Amino acid sequence: MDVSSASFIPRKVTSAEEAREVVAAEGAVVVTGVADEAAAVALGRRIMGERALRCGTQFEATKAGGRREAMMVDAQPADSRGRKRNFGSAEERMVAHNDGFAFGDYAPDHLFLWCERPAARGGDSFLIDTARLLDLLAADSASADLAHFCRTVDIDHSEPNYPQGTYAPIARRTPSGRFQGRYHPYLAPVEGAAEAAHWAFVRRWETVVNAVRDTGPMFRAQAGEMICVDNYRVLHGRDGYNDPLRKVCSIWGWSTDAVAVPDGPLDIVVPKIPLAS
Ligand SMILES: [Fe+2]
Repeated sequence: MDVSSASFIPRKVTSAEEAREVVAAEGAVVVTGVADEAAAVALGRRIMGERALRCGTQFEATKAGGRREAMMVDAQPADSRGRKRNFGSAEERMVAHNDGFAFGDYAPDHLFLWCERPAARGGDSFLIDTARLLDLLAADSASADLAHFCRTVDIDHSEPNYPQGTYAPIARRTPSGRFQGRYHPYLAPVEGAAEAAHWAFVRRWETVVNAVRDTGPMFRAQAGEMICVDNYRVLHGRDGYNDPLRKVCSIWGWSTDAVAVPDGPLDIVVPKIPLAS
């Protein structure tokens, strides 16, 4: 089946109010004319509006920074199920993901990607609307069982060696009423009798997400543009690039809609789950 229509190019707007409306309706938007990182963080906060709880730069995505973090992660061992963390390299197309996936319920519900400088070539972005993707899967008799699995069966969303202590379906409605659909490369079934059968569904979800990524449209954020994402509903990523001067700031935002909010910054290299407060 053709699932490419779950991937989309966000519209461009110029104000926080328009951005808030479009993110709520469509899952993502691009705001133009954002001068610097401080303005980007402030704009992210304005887009969340009265619901804003926490907003700040998580990291600056550059080739050199990515390589440093990837080396630290490479030194970490595989877990008891043979799963090994890997940050990949700038030259590779990214696996689609929700940001902060290692932190489970503490992941930000908003993501703002401010582009200070695009790559000379490559590094284009993609977005995948998981709500639309699951509707597409549910409407096709060949994949309706996969949609049902994603919506109803608890799985383990934790990264190797960093357990989250909770399980949840791939897609769910959060207590605040937001739709959440998740993907990252370490999803695994809960260990137990149904594990083998559930692995088959998790692998099918992976295959579908990769197919959307590789058949849907990509777009280029220009300098001064900020991609604003409903990080619960929409997966993101970028194509490979080589330009050491590319710089994109990843800004994480938590609103009152978030399932859980951390007290301080989160470390993606050593992703310990914050203690519930
Ligand atoms: Fe990301």
